[in-house]
Amino acid sequence: MGEAAAVWAERQEGRGVPPEILAKADTNPWHHEVRDFAAPTEPVDTPSRRAALELLGTGGTVLDVGCGGGAAAFALVERATHVTGADQQQDMLDAFATEAQARGVPHRTVLGRWPDIAAAAGTADVVVSHHVLHNVVDLPPFLLALTAAAGRGVVVEMMGEHPMAWLDPLWERFHGLHRPPSATTDDAVAVLRELGIEPAVWRWERVAPPRQDPVWVTRRLCLPATAVPEVGAALDGLVRPRLAATLSWPAG
Ligand SMILES: C[S@@+](CC[C@H](N)C(=O)[O-])C[C@H]1O[C@@H](n2cnc3c(N)ncnc32)[C@H](O)[C@@H]1O
Repeated sequence: MGEAAAVWAERQEGRGVPPEILAKADTNPWHHEVRDFAAPTEPVDTPSRRAALELLGTGGTVLDVGCGGGAAAFALVERATHVTGADQQQDMLDAFATEAQARGVPHRTVLGRWPDIAAAAGTADVVVSHHVLHNVVDLPPFLLALTAAAGRGVVVEMMGEHPMAWLDPLWERFHGLHRPPSATTDDAVAVLRELGIEPAVWRWERVAPPRQDPVWVTRRLCLPATAVPEVGAALDGLVRPRLAATLSWPAG
């Protein structure tokens, strides 16, 4: 493993929840809720959408890795001739399929963990993967499989830091758990460079206010529902960052 990939892996492992805390949690803090990842009816104009539309040109196929409800793929429907959604959660794929039908876009879904499902997912002109990198520890195989699946290019969107890093002071306060620094966009770019890939990078602020409600944060912190008021009070002093980045590179 290269140096940058090792830094990424170490920082991602530092995000883990110790087993003794996890054992007491009422719900799985890592589970992604479908309702949080519904594709907007009208696509938001972002650098990620613009980069993918440019790669699509007058039209082409799209593979959305870690698709959730398909926000990345369905932002491209005007030029996508076919969309494939790949995700490790079946409920996300169900939402993706329902949305594709509603929008009249030919589609298929593939269940499983990327890159294990790369062969089943096949290739597409444009591969998009939004807000998935911070879920990955071993980044090189993930990125290489994205590149190999793309006929024209790849567009990745990610937050500047791990999307839960802003809660680190609350891990310290409620669990006495000190977390190491988060992996960053620069760390991901360094891994790409180590793989011989030089991505175009845009840094920008997300418009939609990201979720910050006390019930959701309490679950994320593996705390019981009785802690909601205290978590709510603690949240008053914290702001969830909106800094995002788009990374795009041509097919290999
Ligand atoms: C934060 S959500 C983002 C969903 C969507 N891309 C969006 O931007 O709204 C991350 C999604 O990636 C999926 N996921 C995470 N790691 C994955 C992996 N290695 N392979 C496949 N899906 C993955 C999760 O199940 C979840 O649906």
